Order: sequence, then structure tokens, then C-alpha cells
Amino acid sequence: MTLPIRPAVLASPDYPFVPVNAPVKLDQNESFADFPEALKDLALQRMRALPWHRYTDLNAEALSEAIAAHDGWSASGTVVTTGSNVLIALLIQLGALGGRVVTVAPNFALYALDAKLLGAALTEVPLNADASLDMDALIAALGPGTGDGPHGVIYLPRPHAPTGSLCELDELERLAAASPGWLLVVDEAYHHFTPTDARELARRHPHVVLLRTFSKAWGLAGLRLGYALASNGVARQLRKLVPPFGVSVLQTVCALVALEQPGYVQARVAATLSERERLFSALQRHPSWRPLPSHANFLLVRTPDAAAAHAQLLAHGVLVRRQDSLPGLQGCLRVTVGTVAENNAFLRAAGLAG
Ligand SMILES: Cc1ncc(COP(=O)(O)O)c(C=O)c1O
Repeated sequence: MTLPIRPAVLASPDYPFVPVNAPVKLDQNESFADFPEALKDLALQRMRALPWHRYTDLNAEALSEAIAAHDGWSASGTVVTTGSNVLIALLIQLGALGGRVVTVAPNFALYALDAKLLGAALTEVPLNADASLDMDALIAALGPGTGDGPHGVIYLPRPHAPTGSLCELDELERLAAASPGWLLVVDEAYHHFTPTDARELARRHPHVVLLRTFSKAWGLAGLRLGYALASNGVARQLRKLVPPFGVSVLQTVCALVALEQPGYVQARVAATLSERERLFSALQRHPSWRPLPSHANFLLVRTPDAAAAHAQLLAHGVLVRRQDSLPGLQGCLRVTVGTVAENNAFLRAAGLAG
């Protein structure tokens, strides 16, 4: 019997991730260190004192306020969900059902996957050979008649994943000016690892939405929390699509504790940046592997044979992520910047002094 399920879902592949155990885990762009022990204790203590039999805030109001204060945004423009990957699908529902998703390729897999699952037309604009963005091609892909919308959603990670490249803010400004009638979503999952962000742009353009996450620099990937910074008008409509009471009291407490004492994040970001540069320099000395300059907490490395390089690293207990199935990324692996010891293990496994 054929399952009574939409053909687009039946035709979609599973999310491209296979869990593998390895002593040195550099495959998911997580923080190299856990949430600080003292903050875990404080969060657990607060959780114990809270009622667990009651629903929490309808729209994570308390958490939205704390995030907004931390990020210099309005609470009414802040929409919190259980991971920013939830927002990727919701924003397509908000602006692109029956319309288009326009993005670049290669890219973070979920934009295209969700577009296909939700039946939105998908346009993927190839990056340049050096992983930079062809902004003229992206703007041309929006097509004529970009007046009042809705036409669809544009997805752009900044810094870009998985290449680590960074689109200049004036280029982004050009895209924002050229995209009325579209939601322009700038995914800032890795914004901590680069000095600039797109808040100023989003303040000036109400159709620009920023996505942020607690999964990377905050060291809370297991907590599952992400959020959108949007204009009040967009946030108000987006909230209608977010499941009510969706963010649990446990998630709320942990994130509030992190936001009260965010000092640990800066120190870790600084360590990540210096280790990223050390890994980059070391990899430049590899006889056949070539790293791309990165503005995030990972490096994309082109090798002559991704399968062989991945297996070589894994044989030494080091797990990285293959990216060679993505367009233009033949031979590429993505390695997360880890601790000094983990990075040394990676370099040794790659045949370099670490
Ligand atoms: C560019 C990008 N956006 C979003 C996400 C998802 O983040 P979250 O853990 O908040 O769902 C990731 C995770 O790797 C990512 O790389």
C-alpha cells in the first residue's frame, strides 16, 4: 500500500548525518567546551525550585526579553524556538509556500531540504570558485517584478557554512535593497567568530530576518535553542507559526543563566580564533590538502580524495565531516576547531606536526 504522504516528503532524502563515535569529535561545529560547571549547577538548582507541572510562557516571553537585552534588539522582534533549524522551516511557511526559496550552493543543507519538503520552488545560485558570493547572480535570480510580495525567502548564512567565507556588509545591503517582497534571512549561526554582524542592516530593512543559535559559541547545542531577530511586524506573524508553549522551562532556565553570565563565551571565542589561525597555517604546509580562509569555528579543507582523507583521520580517532557531495566541493572535508589537544590530534592524523 502506498503511504498517504505527500510525494515531496516521500521523495526527500533523510537529513545527511550519520552518527559515528570517535575520541576526537570535530564534525558538528559545536563548542570545544561544555557549558561551565558552575552555571550548570546554578541552572539545575533553579530548575529544582520551579514547578514542572505548569506550562511555561506561551511565546518564551521572559527568554525573549533577556535575549533582546543581550543582543540589543527589541523583545517584540525576538522569536525563540527549539533550535534555529526549526525557524528555517517556519520562515519558508511564512513567506515561501507557493513561492520560491532562493539560496546559494554549496550551502547548509537544511534550506534546500526544507524548501523541497514544503513544496517551495528552489533556486540555488553557485558560489564563485573561491567560495565568495556572486551577488549579481543572486540578485538576478530573484527575477523581475520584485515589488510588493510575497515572492519567497532568500537564505544566506553569514559567515557562510560550510565554506567559512564572509559576504561583505555592503554587498548584503545591495541584496536587501534589491529584494522588496522577499524575506531576506541572514543566518548568523557563526556570527560570534567574526567582528561584524547584520543587525544594523536588519534595523533599516523590515524584510531582513537574522537567525541566531545557542548551539555554537554558547556551548549549548544539546539544549536546542535558537531565535530570530526580526522587525516587529515580521516577528508578530512568525510567532503564529511557532508551536505554543514550545520552549520548555528547562531550556528557559539554562539560557537565562547563560545570558546572566555570558563572560565565558568571549574567552572561548578568542581561543577558537587563535586555534583557527594555527590550524590554517599548519594546513597550508600540507603537501596536498588546502584549507580555505574561514570566518567561523571550522575550516573547509580540500583534499585529493575526501573518502581517503576522512578514513585516514578516523583511523587515528579523529572525526571530521565529509562535504564532498556538495556542488563544487569535490575532495572537501570540514573540520571544527577543537581544543588545543584535539587540534594537535587532528594535525598529527593529517601527517603534520601538532
Ligand atoms: C548555518 C547553520 N544554521 C543553523 C544551524 C542549526 O542550528 P541549531 O542548532 O540552532 O538548530 C546550523 C548548525 O550546524 C548551521 O550550521
